[in-house]
Amino acid sequence: MKNNEYDIPYHVAIILDGNGRWAKKRGLKRSLGHKAGFENLKELSSYIFDKGVKILSVFAFSTENFKREKEEVDYLMDLLVTKFKTLIDKNKNIKIVFSGKREDLSKEVINAINEIEEITKECDSKIFNICFNYGGKLDIVEATKKIVDDVGKGLIKKDDIDENLFGKYLYNSIPDIDLLIRTSGEFRISNFMLFQSAYSEMYFPKILFPDFKPKDFDKALEEYNKRDRRFGGIKKDK
Ligand code: FPP
Repeated sequence: MKNNEYDIPYHVAIILDGNGRWAKKRGLKRSLGHKAGFENLKELSSYIFDKGVKILSVFAFSTENFKREKEEVDYLMDLLVTKFKTLIDKNKNIKIVFSGKREDLSKEVINAINEIEEITKECDSKIFNICFNYGGKLDIVEATKKIVDDVGKGLIKKDDIDENLFGKYLYNSIPDIDLLIRTSGEFRISNFMLFQSAYSEMYFPKILFPDFKPKDFDKALEEYNKRDRRFGGIKKDK
């Protein structure tokens, strides 16, 4: 989609990294960095959707993040239970979905997830995909198991399986990412949406997530507009 200035990516994904370091720099507990990160996410996601982005995916908790200190994990779980509901903005017709493994989460967290999904399930203009207890490899493995089940039940045939069908079996059938941002200056994707990032443009600003503001997203868009997306082909004018 184009607005006046830019080609707007259909699907933007952000790895929300750097909250802990943001807090440490200020002599605060890591949890306060997540609090600041969450407040920033509320503002930033609203700005991104207003720009015309249709799908926003965020990496908020990885399957590996359970390895962190209990206090930090508990804080992030509590944030989901007590605060994530404030991300709901029905005026913007945004459906909120969660991608990830639910089984390892507490009843309270699962209830909060179900409630947010239920409240926004009829919204059909945009999708806010929150990856929580998510792993890209796990997503692919789970999709494969569901496909095997459906082949077994005779719902699909082995020969029906192609990249398009496979993608539909991933959590929430979220399509390919156009622009993938990881804040904080790390240059890796740490097991995030591996299948959907095959042809993403990647952007790695050296800004800690709580400091990543709308003007920084505009810079990411500017950079995205300079990229030459070829998807393996050759541009006609080259
Ligand atoms: C991947 O790095 C980064 C993430 C999974 C994002 C983690 C972000 C949070 C826990 C804060 C979420 C913020 C809000 C506001 C809910 P990694 O640390 O899993 O992997 P790495 O060790 O390769 O860096």
